[in-house]
Amino acid sequence: MTSDEIRKKFLKFFKKRGHAIIPSAPLVPENDPSVLFNTAGMQPLVPYLLGQAHPQGKRLADVQKCVRTVDIDDIGDNTHATFFEMLGNWSLGDYFKEDAIKWSYEFLTSQDEGLGLDLKRLYVTVFEGDENAPRDEEAFETWKRYIHKDRIYFMGAKTNWWSPGENGPCGPDSEMFYDTTVDGLGDINADEFVAADKRQDIVEVWNDVFMEYEKKDGKIIGKLAQQNVDTGAGLERVTMVAQGKKNIFDTDLFIPIMKRIAEHAASDDAQAQRIIADHVRTAVFMIADGVIPSNTEQGYVLRRLIRRARYYYDSIGTKEKALGLLASDVISVYKNTNYNLGKKKQNIEEIITNEERTFVANLVFGKKFLEKIMKKENIISAKNAFMAYSTYGFPFELTKEIAAENGKVVDENGFRDEMRKHQDVSRVGAEQKFKGGLANTNEKTTMLHTCTHLMLAGLRKYLGDDVHQAGSNITEERTRFDFTYPHKVERDTLDKVETYVNEAIGKECDMVIKKIQKEEARATGVEGSFWEKYPDMVNVYMVKCENGTVYSQELCGGPHVENTGAIKGVFKIKKEEASSAGVRRIKAILE
Ligand code: ALA
Repeated sequence: MTSDEIRKKFLKFFKKRGHAIIPSAPLVPENDPSVLFNTAGMQPLVPYLLGQAHPQGKRLADVQKCVRTVDIDDIGDNTHATFFEMLGNWSLGDYFKEDAIKWSYEFLTSQDEGLGLDLKRLYVTVFEGDENAPRDEEAFETWKRYIHKDRIYFMGAKTNWWSPGENGPCGPDSEMFYDTTVDGLGDINADEFVAADKRQDIVEVWNDVFMEYEKKDGKIIGKLAQQNVDTGAGLERVTMVAQGKKNIFDTDLFIPIMKRIAEHAASDDAQAQRIIADHVRTAVFMIADGVIPSNTEQGYVLRRLIRRARYYYDSIGTKEKALGLLASDVISVYKNTNYNLGKKKQNIEEIITNEERTFVANLVFGKKFLEKIMKKENIISAKNAFMAYSTYGFPFELTKEIAAENGKVVDENGFRDEMRKHQDVSRVGAEQKFKGGLANTNEKTTMLHTCTHLMLAGLRKYLGDDVHQAGSNITEERTRFDFTYPHKVERDTLDKVETYVNEAIGKECDMVIKKIQKEEARATGVEGSFWEKYPDMVNVYMVKCENGTVYSQELCGGPHVENTGAIKGVFKIKKEEASSAGVRRIKAILE
């Protein structure tokens, strides 16, 4: 069974069971500045898990593109990848444990509709209970209908409680594992199960989260208004077991790129080859979703991956000049998907190649520099780590990794101070965010999001209908908004836009959410960009006043203030400048 077939089968299976198929959201979340990338299928759906009605109904299924770099140190083992596709089915206050478990079981084992996996190789874990929630007897009883009770293990919150971070919807989960050994492990007890997992003899293939609790600042604060199901099965792992492989790099999702790297390599260091394959693949998907290498936020993560891949590419003695050339092998794997990588091939190759060129120019000198220090000292000082970063372009994490390989350490705190001194704090901020996961949907960010809608409506009123959103990034402090327009916008126009926004704030208008057909929304002049990204039914967010005046109507997924009266402060446009050809950028605040 090919990975293309698995994607299709999964969606067909859940469509037949009443689920609407929704497209993958882009890798970079649009209105959630608390995470750099979507790290799970549920992230773009948080407002709906918290109770907002989804325009496509209560049962959804999709294949979501995800990036997780918390696992970066594990790359090279059998099952981890920084980019992966997550197969997911959702119940938004509809079915719960019984159906979720039944369908997971059926999809995994059905020859006809599913993957046809061997029931004798399946193991399951369920939540053992703690002070927050009871032992999950319901999940246990349901699983017992399908699988022998000795192969169902009760586990603690560390493995069987899922939440996207310190804040948000969460709950106990039930994980499914598959035995990949040649002879089969057969009946094993809980300790043997844990040991087999550590050895990667068994692999987690699917997680059903029964999401009915809410977390705030790391604490469970109570139950949600509805019981949801959030499931996630990594396509790479599912493909691995369906194709009878021991690791994801031997599946059809990786074979072309692994083959090419092996052709280029003088050494058969499997781990290095896997790291290169993984990182190039992630870089391809990031660039396709608009990320470019830089020293901050998403761009820094991309830079770090490309440079780390290049470092390993050199370490396996490659004769080839360009890592960027591997991108086409990644792109070929996805030719039958709707990710549209083919169209962006040239751009992707160019960006990777340019980034690696800058790095390669300094790589040899940087390595020599570090080697010299490590010969003399056991600790790489903050000053030297900063030198490796600023002069030789070594991402800090790479310096740390090289140090560790040589049994040395780096003065990490000192390095961060050094960075601060050089006013490049945002990179560190990016790291924090990356670890954290979903933050509290911050009030100030929500207010600025509503202001951003109003500002776009104002810009379109004064500059014309060709103005559309080209990008948006909102934090607690400011909104940064890119829009299509060929010239500088005069200050008096910006003043008018400000007045327009502040007028809507002053009038205390409601934010009305209307669920309509996408085509109807388009025809009635609702503002939206990336229309193809939205499902057939959409939510239109309208800022509508008591007297009927509509200040803004735009496609969106929230979050927004319920009434503009809740927006504190005066809206001010602080800066307007060129962003790229034909695109302008505004920074605006609430003062
Ligand atoms: N959200 C769950 C996970 O990522 C399904 O494991």
